Amino acid sequence: MDSLGGLENPPSYLMTNLPTGKRVLSGIQASGTFHIGNYFGATRQHIGLQDGNDVRIFIADYHSMNSVRDGNLRRKHTQDLALDYLALGLDPKRTIFYRQSDLPEVQELTWILGTVAPMGLLQRAHAYKDATAKGEDVLAGLFNYPVLMAADILIHDADIVPVGQDQKQHIEIARDLAEKINQQYGEVLKLPVSYIPEEVAVVPGTDGRKMSKSYGNTIEVFAPPKTIKKQVMGIVTDSTPVEDPKDPTLPLFQLWNLFATVDERTVMADRCKQGGVGYGEVKKDLLERLTSNFEPATERREELVKNPDTVEDVLRDGAKRAREAVTPLMERVREATGLGSN
Ligand code: ADP
Ligand code: TRP
Repeated sequence: MDSLGGLENPPSYLMTNLPTGKRVLSGIQASGTFHIGNYFGATRQHIGLQDGNDVRIFIADYHSMNSVRDGNLRRKHTQDLALDYLALGLDPKRTIFYRQSDLPEVQELTWILGTVAPMGLLQRAHAYKDATAKGEDVLAGLFNYPVLMAADILIHDADIVPVGQDQKQHIEIARDLAEKINQQYGEVLKLPVSYIPEEVAVVPGTDGRKMSKSYGNTIEVFAPPKTIKKQVMGIVTDSTPVEDPKDPTLPLFQLWNLFATVDERTVMADRCKQGGVGYGEVKKDLLERLTSNFEPATERREELVKNPDTVEDVLRDGAKRAREAVTPLMERVREATGLGSN
């Protein structure tokens, strides 16, 4: 299986500058819609980093409890997301791929980190601030979400955490909490850094805001062709006539760029400057590129779907390896904090 996230003809920038020799950790919430913002902002890096790094990826089902309130649905989303990742090129032999709730040690570390987490720090977290700004009744699960996320990361002694820009603050909180533990109990936790390639830090949605399932502005990777077509054709543009110059920073061009080589982008930017580019033409081309890029992954997914047991076996094996992998760290933490017998 290739490690380019299922892209058969990867744009040239995909091939360059990926770090090596690192412990890489990331998670993704199982909440329904896998879209190209997730793919370019996070998943593509998760898969690309498998070459030459020690990668651990998990499906954040504990996290999804803050939004998904139906147990059967959570299982379905978890299964779907596992299929998405395997289809896109996650190699479970090289990467430890597991379901968060199969690693209960994370909850122990969450508690420990909670004992050094200042309320003020958590009150500044985006998810909490957004919910209070909307006048919602905030539940403790949402308030503590950055602490759980810190535990997810710190439990692996991770060096880098590939995520989209919206998650950067959470990595900073993880560093803060690790520092506090280290100050109080000695150097037990490693401080990770986020890994956010600038170009895909924020993938725009079809309405120009950040692509997010909560805004309903996504272009999905594995939806039926008709749905994907509708989503691409629905990308907002303006009424500039074909012959006039176009703004090359419009969401449509940013999205098109994701599937284009550096040279193709330069040509497109020049055409925008000169005029003569039609939005309809670019949308059609984007749809073709998107479809052909994800075609191999779509076919792999169709095969995988026929064997749900294989997916479950992969996650179970991943959980076993994850538990073994975190044992030394948890022993170190328990020893340093005076928990358990010595
Ligand atoms: P959503 O915003 O649709 O709920 P998630 O929060 O599940 O997406 O995001 C999963 C991963 O994908 C995270 O690492 C997140 O930073 C990344 N991501 C999500 N949307 C985008 C986007 N529009 N641009 C870049 N990265 C994104
Ligand atoms: N909070 C992340 C999101 O919503 C998912 C996540 C949970 C995560 N734990 C993590 C990402 C640890 C990176 C590392 O997308």
